[in-house]
Amino acid sequence: MPFSELQLQLDERAAQGLLRSRRTVSGPQAPQLVVDGKPYLSFCSNDYLGLASHPQLIQALGQGAERYGVGAGAAHLVSGHGAAHEQLEFELAAFVGKPAALLFSTGYMANLGVVQALTGRGDTVFADKLNHASLNDAMLLSRATVRRYRHNDMAQLAIMLGQTKHGRKLICTDAVFSMDGDMAPLQALHDLCEAHDAWLLIDDAHGFGVLGAQGRGSLSSVGINSKRIICMATLGKAAGVSGAFVAAEQVVIDTLINNARSYVYTTATPPALSVALLESLRLIAGGEERRAHLQNLIAQLRAGLKGLPWALMESDTAIQPLLVGENQAALNLSMALQERGIWVAAIRPPTVAAGTARLRITLSAAHSTADVDRLLEALHELARR
Ligand SMILES: Cc1ncc(COP(=O)(O)O)c(C=O)c1O
Repeated sequence: MPFSELQLQLDERAAQGLLRSRRTVSGPQAPQLVVDGKPYLSFCSNDYLGLASHPQLIQALGQGAERYGVGAGAAHLVSGHGAAHEQLEFELAAFVGKPAALLFSTGYMANLGVVQALTGRGDTVFADKLNHASLNDAMLLSRATVRRYRHNDMAQLAIMLGQTKHGRKLICTDAVFSMDGDMAPLQALHDLCEAHDAWLLIDDAHGFGVLGAQGRGSLSSVGINSKRIICMATLGKAAGVSGAFVAAEQVVIDTLINNARSYVYTTATPPALSVALLESLRLIAGGEERRAHLQNLIAQLRAGLKGLPWALMESDTAIQPLLVGENQAALNLSMALQERGIWVAAIRPPTVAAGTARLRITLSAAHSTADVDRLLEALHELARR
């Protein structure tokens, strides 16, 4: 058995500062975490609105479990599709301004399902080079021709689209890029779709709940609503629970119900999660104060990070990466913060390009201005050493 080969590969990763490992968190998600028995101030969750341990969601989850039990028991196409799933899909579609929506167990599975169900051999998928791994894996699974364009490079994408004469065309992009925090040029992407008769799949994992009026997402923030656009968003980040949905024209949703393998061949999520998510949707819609506080924290952090030896990347969102460069240097900085009781994840290749290892600072409406000050003080102190 090639166990020694596996160990050798892990040893090589470790030597390059690339070994991944997990930490164990006790207690609920919040800026104050107890990790492996020690208290930390955390800046690494995607719980942007601070809803992951909100009492109303905890209560709704309990009520959902009392009403529907715990497990869904079967796939949606068998006997697992419940009234709570149905209502949530209806409300999510209305919230993002689409005719229909479909729940998936995770965002990863939603992306796999959409790209695989809508494209195949003879079709072409166009993708930003900085897209999330789930979109990259989805393209491979689809068996379509893959064309990756430079990050947000609309001129290169236009050339690629012009060169594609046959088959369906699907452009895939993160709306807010998960490791960089910047946004895709959604209007320009939509214009290219119109010009080249293409579809646009927007992954709004990091925009839903945070951007746009009432947190309706990235498309709402730029005022676009088009039949060509298929919107995927996750429900385990700003929504604070778990899962994902795809919102689109009814015929697209019906196609997913019939063809998306990651939808058809999996057990439905517990209906109680949908009950919690219905409550979350209400908190998101009424969450202007949370979003305004988050914006203030972003401004406070960006102003305070100026003058540090590490480059602050161009981002207006809650994802504020600090570019360090080498893997070990990013790890060392993350470790030094941990020694000061602050947890910020170091992101290294292959998640980001070689030489661009970074600290991915994420802010939440649950942080206070004093929390952000504490992070800034620690970084300035480390920069002086
Ligand atoms: C841009 C993006 N898309 C999709 C996903 C996957 O979503 P999920 O965690 O629900 O699988 C993530 C992160 O998890 C993400 O950052």
